[in-house]
Amino acid sequence: MTHRGFFVTFEGIDGCGKSTQADLLTTALEERGHRVTHTFEPGGTTLGKRLRTILVHDELAVSPFAEVLLFAADRRQDIDEIILPALHQEQIIVAERFADSSIAYQGIGGGVGKERVESLMNLITSGLIPDLTLLLDIAPDKSLARKASLDKIEQRGSFLTLVRRAYLDMAAQQPARFVIINAARTREDVFQDVLAAVLKRLS
Ligand SMILES: Nc1ncnc2c1ncn2[C@@H]1O[C@H](COP(=O)(O)OP(=O)(O)O)[C@@H](O)[C@H]1O
Ligand SMILES: [Mg+2]
Repeated sequence: MTHRGFFVTFEGIDGCGKSTQADLLTTALEERGHRVTHTFEPGGTTLGKRLRTILVHDELAVSPFAEVLLFAADRRQDIDEIILPALHQEQIIVAERFADSSIAYQGIGGGVGKERVESLMNLITSGLIPDLTLLLDIAPDKSLARKASLDKIEQRGSFLTLVRRAYLDMAAQQPARFVIINAARTREDVFQDVLAAVLKRLS
């Protein structure tokens, strides 16, 4: 899918600092005169907020594959409502989580199958791929210690170890798109690397 904007995503396990760094990046890019739209999943749209309640709080015993489809519905809504309009206006999109999250969490971590989720993501994104993906890498014990309360997807430390490994493998397989950033440092140190990676790609 072609567009003239710039699409950057943050990925990484819960508590790695995606929201913190996305906020810092959005502000820094706006200060440099760029037009930026910041979105996140699940929950960036009105539909997404409803789906987030189901995915994060409800005790519905959603099966792993059904969970993929709920995230997929949210993602497509985010694409149609927020991401594509902004990219067509040549804006920068800063997104917290995208298709890589489904591949890492449900495809690999949840056992739905990497290839199955990859092909589904290719379908539901119409082949939209981020220009740059910043993987905020951190050990689960460190990231979980940062969070005051844990939701149901985040509760399993061994699960997150699997997800972390999945992300690192994906980054190794797609080195042109991914930049791995050590997220077990201060916000400021992490952000220096985030900003440097983005400015390098923008220029
Ligand atoms: N580099 C950091 N060092 C220590 N605490 C951090 C750092 N980055 C973020 N935090 C804090 O850790 C928690 C999780 O960060 P957040 O940005 O919400 O992560 P995510 O969006 O990836 O789940 C928040 O309370 C945040 O203020
Ligand atoms: Mg967050």
